[in-house]
Amino acid sequence: MQSTCAEIQAQVSDRVLEITINRPERKNALTMAMYSAMAELLNNAANDPGIRVVILTGAGGAFTSGNDLADFLGGSATGEESPVFQFMMALYNFPKPVVASVSGPAVGIGTTMLLHCDLSIADDDAVFQMPFVNLGLCPEYCSSFLLPRIMGQAKASELLLLGKKFDAHTAADVNILNEVVYSGEALSRARGYARELAQKAPEAVRLSKKLLRQGTMENGLAVIREEAGHFQKRLQSDEFREAATAFMEKRPADFSKFD
Ligand code: COA
Repeated sequence: MQSTCAEIQAQVSDRVLEITINRPERKNALTMAMYSAMAELLNNAANDPGIRVVILTGAGGAFTSGNDLADFLGGSATGEESPVFQFMMALYNFPKPVVASVSGPAVGIGTTMLLHCDLSIADDDAVFQMPFVNLGLCPEYCSSFLLPRIMGQAKASELLLLGKKFDAHTAADVNILNEVVYSGEALSRARGYARELAQKAPEAVRLSKKLLRQGTMENGLAVIREEAGHFQKRLQSDEFREAATAFMEKRPADFSKFD
């Protein structure tokens, strides 16, 4: 299976497709071309009987630092026709198991995409963050709906409103992760689970995934759409422009002038 983008690698072995985000000089920040490539790989894998499981991982000691902020500042869209939305839908609707292996930073969609994976394993030095409010944005990819349900309202408010970093053990405690392993071992553990899943009865696995997710799937799409509508507007806001410019200029954002 071929990726359409050099910064997204695809490798198939024993019916497992491994998708590797490979832009380490930007901590694997995701560009539109990268989202498109991942969406296409997932959509092809969904219909390919030769693929039973997908692994999502990142190269060079990072999972992903989320959306490329320069892309966002440059006006790239997140509406329903956009590559980011296409990727979100491809993973959200993916009918086969997805195993995530997280090393280093998993920021923004790097954390929220884990809510749509079936098993997530992280190195013990992985770092998670959903800094949407810090950036003048709002929660995305169903996180405003799913997080209160998986971890309770208090913790979800803490992680989304304060937008603070949290470690792998906290991510496991709040049910974002299945397992935390010693640094450098997440990928081999994820590959082990993927091999195990690929050997199971494929229809039974797919049906079980569908049943496990159908409760949230019913409401999830409407939430993703509502969040995406707000998110797209927030990208045009002065608050976001200040936050993203501050990141590029390596200074704290100053929101004191906003009402
Ligand atoms: N978009 C664009 N560039 C990014 C990026 C992103 N999301 N994340 C990192 N980079 C760039 C940095 O600007 C830096 O560029 P430089 O070498 O030209 O200075 C380079 O990648 C390396 O990142 P750096 O910040 O030096 O690495 P770090 O290990 O100290 O921190 C992060 C890693 C991920 C914690 C930090 O880069 C970060 O917070 N990134 C922004 C995450 C974010 O807000 N994502 C959007 C969510 S909606």
